[in-house]
Amino acid sequence: MSEFELLLPLLSLIVMGSGIVILLFIKAMFVRVVGFVVIMLGLFSLIGASIPQAPSLPPAVETFDMARIQTPDDLAFIGQKIFFSKGQCALCHSIGPREAARCPDLKGIGAKLTREFIYESLTQPQAYIYKDFRHEGLPQEYPARMPHINKNPIALTNQEILSVIAFLQKMSGEPISIKVEDVMKPEAIEVASIRGAAEN
Ligand code: HEC
Repeated sequence: MSEFELLLPLLSLIVMGSGIVILLFIKAMFVRVVGFVVIMLGLFSLIGASIPQAPSLPPAVETFDMARIQTPDDLAFIGQKIFFSKGQCALCHSIGPREAARCPDLKGIGAKLTREFIYESLTQPQAYIYKDFRHEGLPQEYPARMPHINKNPIALTNQEILSVIAFLQKMSGEPISIKVEDVMKPEAIEVASIRGAAEN
């Protein structure tokens, strides 16, 4: 607990205490009103201070610990973490229908698309523009654009992209076609954003 978190309730209590002292000992009406206001102020800041503050820490960086990756399932596990953190996929995509989804639902995508096609969807998103058919009437453009996952600001490495694909396959109930060796290759380790930038 930080010093500030302790200081605020303490100050609130002091403020409330002085309000109570005023009410107990001073008869002048105006001062009594001030005392009452002071008690309320103290009370409100006490309540405010007792509400736990959500820590706003930056997302933990996923480290790619090669020694711990033994099976494609391990890859899918890392891919899942990246999906919900560094990859920011869950900001836009849902897995399974969601009311407020701004982007395609990725449920079953690993069964629908090949590994190569998913890779291309992530790194060359401008190649395929999908429209939203999940409502009545004419299909509409999605309100968001699929970012280049291998470039800034998300800038996943090839290794990370392959793990995300492994996760998408696994959660679609498909056999994972990414092999552990694929991810160990030197060209997979390179940051895809460097290559992506050179290609353009
Ligand atoms: C800013 C929002 C946004 C983020 C972040 C995002 N996407 Fe997308 N994605 C979209 C939109 C919009 C589309 C569909 C329209 C298009 O292709 O432009 C799409 C399309 C896709 C498709 C093709 C879907 C299909 O049905 O063919 C895949 C696969 C995909 N995204 C995966 C991912 C993954 C994996 C991540 C994280 C590494 C990610 N997306 C991050 C917005 C986003």
